[in-house]
Amino acid sequence: MREFPAEVWARLQDAARDAVTRAYVPYSGYPVGAAALVDDGRVVTGCNVENASYGVGLCAECGLVSDLARSGGGRLVAFACVDGAGEKLVPCGRCRQLLYEFGGPDLVLAMPSGHLPMSAVLPEAFGPDHLTDYEQRRK
Ligand code: THU
Repeated sequence: MREFPAEVWARLQDAARDAVTRAYVPYSGYPVGAAALVDDGRVVTGCNVENASYGVGLCAECGLVSDLARSGGGRLVAFACVDGAGEKLVPCGRCRQLLYEFGGPDLVLAMPSGHLPMSAVLPEAFGPDHLTDYEQRRK
């Protein structure tokens, strides 16, 4: 697993703690902020944005991957998310899949239990390779 200096994790925690202050959570009252380092050095962020139609609410990671695309794309290499108290939080299952698309198995996540690669957080993941492998087999 790739190692990042403590300053990188501090920068991501700070960015996630800033993002969480913008969360729109009138229904759950549970704000989430997320931040990730991109392979070109950018930091992208997101916060959760809920909706009166509860099921269409957006997790913080949805905003983060949208910020990634909007700001120029690239690969996610390190990720952190926090709750409203600024404490480290685990990303939900759906968001692990969202992050996998743009970081793959080597993305390193700051979990409450420590730093872990996505390969441990989402083992045996389904991803873009399954689609391309299938296309290849059909040819
Ligand atoms: N939430 C996130 O934003 N990311 C996660 O990974 C976990 C859950 C949000 C969704 C909802 O707005 C609130 O937390 C409570 O579930």
